Amino acid sequence: MLLDCVSDDKAELVLDGKKYLLPIIIGTEGERAIDIRSLRTETGHITIDSGYMNTGSCASQITFLDGEKGILNYRGYGIEDLAEHCSFVEVSYLLVHGTLPTGDELRRFRELLNLYSLIHEDMIHFFDHYPSNAPPMSILSSMVNSLSNYYPEMNENPLEDIDNMTARLISKVRTIAAFSYRKSYGSQLVMPRHDFSYCANFLNMMFDSPVKPYVVNDEVESALNKLLILHADHEQNCSTSTVRLVGSARVNLYASISAGISALWGPLHGGANMAVMDMLEEIHANGGDYKKYITKAKDRNDPFRLVGFGHRVYKNHDPRAQIIKEASEKVLKSLGVDDDPLLQIARELEDVALRDEYFVERKLYPNVDFYSGIIYRAIGIPQNMFTVMFALGRLPGWISHWREMWTDANWRIGRPRQVYVGPQRKKFVPLEDR
Ligand code: SDX
Repeated sequence: MLLDCVSDDKAELVLDGKKYLLPIIIGTEGERAIDIRSLRTETGHITIDSGYMNTGSCASQITFLDGEKGILNYRGYGIEDLAEHCSFVEVSYLLVHGTLPTGDELRRFRELLNLYSLIHEDMIHFFDHYPSNAPPMSILSSMVNSLSNYYPEMNENPLEDIDNMTARLISKVRTIAAFSYRKSYGSQLVMPRHDFSYCANFLNMMFDSPVKPYVVNDEVESALNKLLILHADHEQNCSTSTVRLVGSARVNLYASISAGISALWGPLHGGANMAVMDMLEEIHANGGDYKKYITKAKDRNDPFRLVGFGHRVYKNHDPRAQIIKEASEKVLKSLGVDDDPLLQIARELEDVALRDEYFVERKLYPNVDFYSGIIYRAIGIPQNMFTVMFALGRLPGWISHWREMWTDANWRIGRPRQVYVGPQRKKFVPLEDR
């Protein structure tokens, strides 16, 4: 069982003069957790922790992040190494299977991704009936949920065909994302190609045209590869916890992922990369006066927050933000747009914020969303698809957590408790007397 790592230490709890000793769980990297699984049975008490800032939902072998030190590892490998040396397909295999693939395993995985890169012709007609201004995250969540209709075997035996299910989803979500973009612009669909890499295929499906053939820029492909890797997993964030909670009711993979896509849509979560661009555009439109926005972000009476800054866990630099910032400078230079005013504003905003007491005191640093939108925009991806790009990256992480939960013999349906603070039992008043 994943939660076997019990320490000899105990936590002592005194309630109503009675002492209780609670086990301490110690993780591989030394994190310590008080095991309260028997708390209510033994003491009649529950704990309360809105936002789950101090509460662990599970033990996991997938991703480790240290918010104080700015460390992020997937299956033990540092993201710096993975972003530098791997393809997104390799990292997807690593997250889902737990090991980096051998040459044969990678070839087989790539073959499955190619085999599953098309979607059912009936599903293509779904796009004809979404409003042209339909939010791409809404379309993505609907289409992924609909995928499970075409594979009814998943509902009977969800784990039986897990490798095909995984490859099918990772490949088809990329196609669905590109098709939804093409359909929203009234462009004919571009089919996936068997001879393109995962990222090159996505770019080609997005931008190729019979009158202006798309040429994949190596720097752009490399930056997209890095972006997808850096978004691939992040412990029990809001959307991953959603996938686990929905999946814990024994819902099939595609329906669980569809719920995760909906959670990621939120502006406090994956929607932040779009909100960052709105913020940078607004500052640019206001003459580039970024200092005014720093002041607004610090004003407790002003709801404005510096989007792309701050993080629930990172109280040091988000290691992903550093890598994305470097990639943004390389891509914009290779595309000849390194004079992008928004990039300049982002750099100045970061520079001022990192020296300002308000941000320093609260340990607010640029997060994964602060620079990613600048790259997507330079590549030509429309802003309303930025969070879709986040979902493309996060997909293997979601799948790996769903698999881990489903294969944990001791996993149970997620069902948090609450503290009731409503009215006590009342005498019923019939309608005629109200
Ligand atoms: C992602 O969980 C994950 O791993 C998420 C993610 C992933 O990979 O899955 O990393 C992806 O979601 C990144 C975060 C994207 N969101 C944003 O960039 C939105 C802007 N950031 C904030 O809304 C905020 O920082 C959160 C939501 C990210 C974190 O919120 P918390 O942990 O609940 O922190 P908090 O709101 O309690 O803030 C603590 C203090 C408060 O000030 P005081 O009450 O102490 O005076 O810091 C302030 C906040 O007002 N603060 C900010 C701020 N973020 C926090 N002030 C100005 N600008 C900000 N961005």
